[in-house]
Amino acid sequence: MSIEFDKALETGNDLIDTQHRELIARVNKLTADGVVGKEKNVAVQTLDFLMDYTDFHFNAEENLQEEHAYPLLDAHKKQHAVFVKAVDDLREMLEEEEGPTEAFVEAVRKNVVDWLLRHIQIWDKQVAEYIKEA
Ligand SMILES: [Fe+2]
Repeated sequence: MSIEFDKALETGNDLIDTQHRELIARVNKLTADGVVGKEKNVAVQTLDFLMDYTDFHFNAEENLQEEHAYPLLDAHKKQHAVFVKAVDDLREMLEEEEGPTEAFVEAVRKNVVDWLLRHIQIWDKQVAEYIKEA
């Protein structure tokens, strides 16, 4: 289930693409560690590791949009908030269980992996395009 950073995920903005590589590496770590049977502690640490960089990256991306007076900034921020909430929910889910469950794995696939792939290809590409044309 690991994501490969290929052409389809490139936005063309160096800052965004560089940070996406790191973000994807951390998501891949989550899909590797967040499997049924893995130790709870390992999964919790990996989630926190992802959350740290998510905060950093979303901030950087939102600042970049602000600098360029990007018109869809508010809507984009809301998208980011959905992801942050999803990761928080995963954290809670883990706390309540002995470790990653089937439901946890499914939520990672849907709310982290699929979400991110869609977000990059639609929302982040639009940002990069706008900045390039400005
Ligand atoms: Fe974004």
